[in-house]
Amino acid sequence: MASISTQEKGDIKSLFHDPDHYIKSFGVFVKASTNIDSNWKENVFNEAVVAKLQVNIPDGEEFAALGVGVGSGKLDTKMMCKLRNRYPCIKNIAVEPAAGQIKLYKELVTTMADKLDGITIDWRKQGLDEFRKAKVARGDTTKYHFISAIHSLYYVDDMEDSLKWLYEQLEDGGMMLIITLSDDSGVWRLRNRYKFFEDRLVRFINSEHIRQAFSKQKIPFTDYKQTARVDITDSFEEDSVDGQLKVDFIAQVMNFHTTASPALQRGLMEYLRGPDCSEHKDGKVLFNNNWDAVIVTK
Ligand SMILES: C[S@@+](CC[C@H](N)C(=O)[O-])C[C@H]1O[C@@H](n2cnc3c(N)ncnc32)[C@H](O)[C@@H]1O
Repeated sequence: MASISTQEKGDIKSLFHDPDHYIKSFGVFVKASTNIDSNWKENVFNEAVVAKLQVNIPDGEEFAALGVGVGSGKLDTKMMCKLRNRYPCIKNIAVEPAAGQIKLYKELVTTMADKLDGITIDWRKQGLDEFRKAKVARGDTTKYHFISAIHSLYYVDDMEDSLKWLYEQLEDGGMMLIITLSDDSGVWRLRNRYKFFEDRLVRFINSEHIRQAFSKQKIPFTDYKQTARVDITDSFEEDSVDGQLKVDFIAQVMNFHTTASPALQRGLMEYLRGPDCSEHKDGKVLFNNNWDAVIVTK
């Protein structure tokens, strides 16, 4: 891990100080991602989840889904549509603390209303810990047939305890899907090297931590490794707004290029383009954004 002095850190602030900046930088990062999830959505999710679910829903009852940190809903809506091929009525509880993300999700639902027939979405503007506390407090014992947490467990108070609780919320025969950064990804290596905001808003979690947590609780799981790259060539071009936003998202720092000290910028950018994080192909810098899906059946 790089040792970073307070002076080197300059005035850097976590990206979480500004949800709008977070959404903007995440959006630019996702847009530049190659192959990020097309194979996953089209093939793996169908085979690994939809085909394997062992729940039977009596006529007139709904399939219950819980999404944790659903963001703008791009992935969740696709997953729900695939699930609806087997279960015609779905009630989806969508837990998401950022108002901006919920707004985007609602806009998306409006534009694709015809495709979401049979799917009801119930948004909860809460983090997982808040959602859990409120559910327990009102004595709500609802269980779910499918639970997903896609790149959102970095933000819960206690990942292991959250996984244990989420598993308890699964119906027998139900499935849980957890997606996180892979332990062999550049994102993980960079964030682990530059632990700017340790113990604050973001936990440093990768797929190995998820596998270990399930193993410790003797919960069997299946692991699906996914290769993904993000074109960050413009992050090395001077004055590229998108390039700088990508670095903000990768480092999880607000306006990294104007707030971090020159020494820190040099070090991080050098590491970012180096072999731990990126590969160079056809004049492009491709950042290793590998991720893993860990799937549990109850
Ligand atoms: C990297 S985004 C992923 C969004 C979406 N799942 C996707 O894959 O496109 C992480 C999401 O987790 C949300 N989040 C932040 N803190 C959270 C918490 N405590 N519990 C649940 N979700 C949280 C963020 O607002 C954000 O929408």
